[in-house]
Amino acid sequence: MRRVVTLYQSTVGKKAMMAVSGIVLFGFVLAHMVGNLKMLFGRNEEGVYAMDAYAEFLRDVGYPLVPHEGVLWIARLVLLAAVGIHILAAVQLSQRSRAARGAAYKKQQPLSFSYASRTMRWGGVIIALFIVYHIAHLTTGQAHADFVKGEVYRNFVVAFQNPLVFAFYLVAQTALCFHLFHGVWSVFQTLGANHPRYNHLRRPFAVGYALVVFVGFMLPPVLVVTGMLTL
Ligand code: HEM
Repeated sequence: MRRVVTLYQSTVGKKAMMAVSGIVLFGFVLAHMVGNLKMLFGRNEEGVYAMDAYAEFLRDVGYPLVPHEGVLWIARLVLLAAVGIHILAAVQLSQRSRAARGAAYKKQQPLSFSYASRTMRWGGVIIALFIVYHIAHLTTGQAHADFVKGEVYRNFVVAFQNPLVFAFYLVAQTALCFHLFHGVWSVFQTLGANHPRYNHLRRPFAVGYALVVFVGFMLPPVLVVTGMLTL
């Protein structure tokens, strides 16, 4: 345990924690994006929206081996831990690099953070704000007065009737796209997966992943605002 703590206290350890928690989050984002495409499938044979049936399946999976919502809660706790570690390591690494730079560079401060690292910081804040809204929109329901528990498809379509919701969503997805691009690109470096023969593939892979996630997450709201997904 002491070794784990010592490792975490080192810069390399913090970068590794950031990379590992980031990989958990990349996986979640991809799986969540694919799952949400059920928004496009309309109603199933029982007349229930495919998206609602999917959300119910996620609540029920593993039952009776685990209690109702058991697997969902495990996933939530893992996600929460990954987000917490990711943010903590990011804040500590940024404080450390600022301290290492010292006061002598103060004059050059706007230049001393790279464009990518500034995007990562603000992108991270926008994504965190979006997740708070997203939970209040679809899980707990405080964001919209006419929230109906369990009716995900309906709650989603109703919320996107408001152009401000769409605008915020677009900003958040753009931030997520940049964040994923830079994150995927740099995780190879952090984990030492660095080979001259394959390095030229890093950029297209990062661009491809970020764009697939962007298009997949944007599709359902775009179809709502263009009137192709209705109640
Ligand atoms: C098409 C877009 C999206 C749809 C339709 C959607 C739908 C959903 C639904 C149905 C839930 C579960 C709600 C419940 O508790 O029953 C959920 C949870 C969640 N979503 Fe999304 N989502 C979308 C985009 C996103 C994006 C872009 C992110 C962030 C990267 C995100 C992050 C989360 C998180 C962290 C949770 C877990 C909250 C919880 O514990 O319930 N979602 N989403």
